[in-house]
Amino acid sequence: MKVRVNVAACVGHARCAAVAPEVYDLDENGFNVTAEKDVDESLRSQAIRGMRACPERVIWVEGASDRD
Ligand code: F3S
Repeated sequence: MKVRVNVAACVGHARCAAVAPEVYDLDENGFNVTAEKDVDESLRSQAIRGMRACPERVIWVEGASDRD
């Protein structure tokens, strides 16, 4: 599935990678650099956890709603 991050709107909370380190990559300042990535289905729950952990709501996971 596809994962997209509006990296321009990321402010560097780094919570996404804290809960989903296999999905989201941060730069040395803690900003998300995963603008778009094809993620294996086995990492879906991790990807969604990371999406929900972001207070800025800048992460989108294919097939997941806000309530997932
Ligand atoms: Fe950025 Fe949100 Fe992660 S602000 S570093 S995408 S928790």
